[in-house]
Amino acid sequence: MPAEPTPPDSYALRGCIVSFDAEDDTPTVFDDGAVVVSRGRIAAVGPAALLDAHPGIETLDHRGRLILPGFIDTHAHYVQTQVIGSYGKQLLDWLGGYVFPEEARAADPAHAATLAGFFLDELLRNGTTSVCAYSSVHAAAADALFAAAASRGMRLISGKTMMDRNAPPELCDTAQTGAAESVALLSRWHGQGRAGYAITPRFAITSTPAQLEASAALVRAHPECWVQTHLSENHAEIATACGLYPEARDYTDIYDRHGLLTERTLLGHCIHLSDRELDVIARRRSVAVFCPTSNLFLGSGLFDLARMRAAGVRLSLATDIGGGTDYSMLRTAAEAYKILQLQGQSWPARAAFRLMTRGNAEALGLAGEIGRIAPGLAADLVVLDPRATPAMAHRADRPMRDLDETLFMLMTMGDDRAVAETIVGGRRVARH
Ligand code: GUN
Ligand code: ZN
Repeated sequence: MPAEPTPPDSYALRGCIVSFDAEDDTPTVFDDGAVVVSRGRIAAVGPAALLDAHPGIETLDHRGRLILPGFIDTHAHYVQTQVIGSYGKQLLDWLGGYVFPEEARAADPAHAATLAGFFLDELLRNGTTSVCAYSSVHAAAADALFAAAASRGMRLISGKTMMDRNAPPELCDTAQTGAAESVALLSRWHGQGRAGYAITPRFAITSTPAQLEASAALVRAHPECWVQTHLSENHAEIATACGLYPEARDYTDIYDRHGLLTERTLLGHCIHLSDRELDVIARRRSVAVFCPTSNLFLGSGLFDLARMRAAGVRLSLATDIGGGTDYSMLRTAAEAYKILQLQGQSWPARAAFRLMTRGNAEALGLAGEIGRIAPGLAADLVVLDPRATPAMAHRADRPMRDLDETLFMLMTMGDDRAVAETIVGGRRVARH
């Protein structure tokens, strides 16, 4: 198991600090603020005058930039990073035609390690400091991602994907081996440093009832672990899943009757759900994960955020790399905004930035560790430059009315180039 890197003792950052500390979308803002970082954690935050209490402390001068909690991505597939942008298919054909052959390559641990390192470094370059990611079916590929995250000091939730039907034989486990390998992995990684384990039956189509039952037994035995799966992304998927589970009332009921809907369950996509299904998900306190670039790219449909919220469903925002097309949570938020525009829904920048930080931390049950800039939390930070590109600088030359306008411009025009610096556990890990 790789040693966690050691963070530097103490230093400070100075700039415009934005964190979502209130229960609503109102940010806490220090226009000329400072964050003191000590041994990987936030020691203090406030107006820059607080630096007077730390004479001589090394200070990274980010004035003119925004300092936010690092972004959190709650759904991605690290083994799909070399099939992003695969042409011309919707979900089931895309999985069969591109994804499954690609995931088979992760059987090679050296290849998996290369993919894992690239994936995490690319997230860091994009200001994402925590991720909840699927691995492939191979236990060694899950090990590779956990090891890569540990060596970078990153918060990771992941798990070996379980599939025991409707996938190529080399990608199938069985109900027994999938569960046994998951137990071995979670014993090795869950709670080690910043790692957490997610029990990961891919979706109802690729799991037999026996595998969903084995997954539920894992959930009962390890309630501290997360659960991640896919739900109601595409019409052909829904019809196929319901055909495979004729006793279920609907797609959601497949997971619910197997005891897989808990408050630690992350349900990717959730696009075409009935009122009954929304009600069940809300009552179980499971999380619907909105993956806008993926939903547009695969032509899956438009996530109805207002309807989810009205039903009381917990929400989250994610890239879904590699159905999703961009590592950047800024680009992801920009596409989410457009999906909501198409449905006549408003989504202010402050709501978007809250969701990418504190909201996603709450969705993972990790709000005590990540998602805000507050004393005691991990020093996972992103520094954004509103003048990062010529087009952004030109736009910013016209004075911004307020912080909301700056945030909205950043999410509409920004991408990895807007990330001036990323800090993980107090360590400076990416800089432009
Ligand atoms: N449904 C089942 N597996 C997948 C996957 O890998 N990506 C997406 N977008 N949907 C899925
Ligand atoms: Zn997915």
